[in-house]
This record gives sequence, structure tokens and C-alpha cells, in this order.
Amino acid sequence: MFSKSAQYYDEIYASVDKDYAAEAAKAHKIIQRYRQSKSKLLLDVACGTGVHAGYLSKYYQVEGLDLDSGLLSVAKKKHPKMRFHQGDMTDFDLGRQFDAVVCLFSSIGYVRTKSRLQKAIKTLSRHLLPGGVLVIEPWFSPKQWHPGRVSMTQVSKPDLKIVRMSLSRQRGKLSLIEFQYLVGTPKGIEHSVEIHELGLFTHKEYLDAFKAVGLKVTHDPEGLDGRGLYIGTNQ
Ligand SMILES: C[S@@+](CC[C@H](N)C(=O)[O-])C[C@H]1O[C@@H](n2cnc3c(N)ncnc32)[C@H](O)[C@@H]1O
Repeated sequence: MFSKSAQYYDEIYASVDKDYAAEAAKAHKIIQRYRQSKSKLLLDVACGTGVHAGYLSKYYQVEGLDLDSGLLSVAKKKHPKMRFHQGDMTDFDLGRQFDAVVCLFSSIGYVRTKSRLQKAIKTLSRHLLPGGVLVIEPWFSPKQWHPGRVSMTQVSKPDLKIVRMSLSRQRGKLSLIEFQYLVGTPKGIEHSVEIHELGLFTHKEYLDAFKAVGLKVTHDPEGLDGRGLYIGTNQ
């Protein structure tokens, strides 16, 4: 879904002042409050271009995992010493466990269906050490989603101009976002379209998915940036 925008991902989120450093510091505090394990291993699932991963590496030995090879190659370029894996969060096995597994910026929504949400949480929980913490920043619930909203983001640098317009839609329990990009560089102006599909899960569906795999779950309604946070522990 990010095939057209991977190389511009960081520019786009820098232009909306997403504060990855502050979010990573908050995530660290929460992990410290809940974890009982003693090492410093953290897995960032759906790490994208590795921005949180970079800030979290101040506190942890971080590895990242993502489905998208384009985003992963941006992450690897920025953090050549960090280990990155390509995989699907609903079904991967690194054969190792971590003190903290995080899945941030609502990436969990990309699993799309309730059964894949359950599979993802099972897969992530299998990668937790005893006493480890699973931190998931959710996507919108069905009640919070508003179809028919148009929004616009702009990047304006001397040699790079981007306009990204988006339109929200809904199909049953799926939220759809159509992104249209106009990217201008001295080489020319290109237009591209991406359709992102994310599952709209209820609070109860998130809680049940944690409980089904034996995790004790806490909901923090504010979280890192107002989207809330589900925090699971296995002891
Ligand atoms: C909104 S981006 C967030 C990226 C990053 N966590 C951040 O905060 O910038 C969503 C990410 O989820 C990844 N993703 C989507 N489906 C996935 C899956 N099934 N398994 C692993 N990653 C997935 C995408 O490739 C993308 O990197």
C-alpha cells in the first residue's frame, strides 16, 4: 500500500510535525512501568521507515519488522547497524523473544479483519519474554470513523513539492483511505494513487484479542498521541 509513497514517507510526516521523539520517550516510560523482564530487547513491528525505532534505540537494543520492502530499505539506510526483518505481523517467527514488542501509529489496522487481528496479537505475544510488554496503538473504532472527509498535506522544499490529498470511505467494517499524490521535483511532476484499507475494530475486540492469548490488558485512553494504547503483559 505504500509502494508509491515509501520514499516520501518521512517528508510527509515531518511536514505535519509528528513528534516521533516525544512518542518514543512516552512509549519507553510505559514499557518501564509495566515490564518485569530484565534485558533491553525491543521489537518494533510495522516499523515503517524506522523513525520510532531510531529514537527507541537510545533505551533498547531495537529490531524492526515490516511487510513493505520500500519502507524497510529507507529504514535500513538510516539505521545501517539495526536489524530489520521483512514479515507479516499476522504470521512471522523470529525464533527469539523481546522485553517489549510495540506496534505503533495504528499499523495494527492494516490487518483488516478480526480474525487477522487475533492472529497478529497471538504472533506478537509469542515474541514476548516472560514479564515482557506488548504495546499496540490502535486504529479508529467503527464509532470514531467518519467517511467522506477530505484532507490535505503539503511538503514544500526547494527541490521537492508534495501535495497529498486524502478521502475517507467505509465498506462495512473496513475504513478506506484514498491518497492522491502530486510530487514535483526538477525532473518533473508525477501523480499517483494509493488505496489503504484498515479494519475498524471495537474496544472489546482489541481487549478480547489480548485476553484470548492469556495477556493481561490495560487500556490507556490517551496513549502517545491521543489515539489510545493497549498494553499487554504476560505475567
Ligand atoms: C502508518 S504506517 C506506520 C509505520 C511506522 N510504525 C511509523 O510510526 O511511522 C503502517 C505500517 O504498517 C506496515 N504494515 C502493514 N501491514 C503489515 C503487516 N501485515 N505486517 C507488517 N507490517 C505491516 C506498513 O508497511 C507500514 O510500514
